[in-house]
Amino acid sequence: MCPLCKKYVAFLADSKKMIRQEIILADAAATEEIGRYLARSLGIGDIITLSGDLGAGKTSLARGLLTEFGFQDEVPSPSFALMIAYEPPEVSVPVAHVDLYRLDNADDIQELGLDEFVFYGALLVEWPERMGTSIDRIWPDRLALHLDILEDNRRRLTWQAPSHWENRWPPLEY
Ligand SMILES: Nc1ncnc2c1ncn2[C@@H]1O[C@H](COP(=O)(O)OP(=O)(O)OP(=O)(O)O)[C@@H](O)[C@H]1O
Ligand SMILES: [Mg+2]
Repeated sequence: MCPLCKKYVAFLADSKKMIRQEIILADAAATEEIGRYLARSLGIGDIITLSGDLGAGKTSLARGLLTEFGFQDEVPSPSFALMIAYEPPEVSVPVAHVDLYRLDNADDIQELGLDEFVFYGALLVEWPERMGTSIDRIWPDRLALHLDILEDNRRRLTWQAPSHWENRWPPLEY
């Protein structure tokens, strides 16, 4: 490709990224599809947090991600266990699906062993708000996704993406 064309294509890709700051999800299948999309580029050491009100669709997104990784059964919510670990051969990449809603004390998170898990797998964490402000110190490189419930019941997905997610998020095709 000629140098000028290359520059133009890069510019177009950049401008698309600049305008895309939210994705509207029409139904649960659309939320799951975003999870599937994420799985295609998710690797060891990646951390994704999912915030949003009760019932916003966090577990639905996790369900899509785990299904894309090959998990065949129903994906339960980890609300009571706090964490469910998925390991090969059930899934292609180890994933710790975490729900901190019932975390009593932010210090208790150490007991879940997430620091060790992230060395060989990815973390998917619902209710990161429960960690308080320490989250920025502990996981500064996380992809932070946020789901809002709209008046018409669709969901709005917004995010904060660190620089190393630049080529993976946001998706251009949605
Ligand atoms: N885009 C969407 N539009 C409409 N409904 C949706 C959408 N995404 C998910 N849902 C529905 O929202 C409900 C709650 O979803 P889900 O359990 O994933 O939420 P959650 O955020 O994990 O809740 P909690 O805070 O209790 O963990 C489910 O019935 C799911 O099918
Ligand atoms: Mg949930």
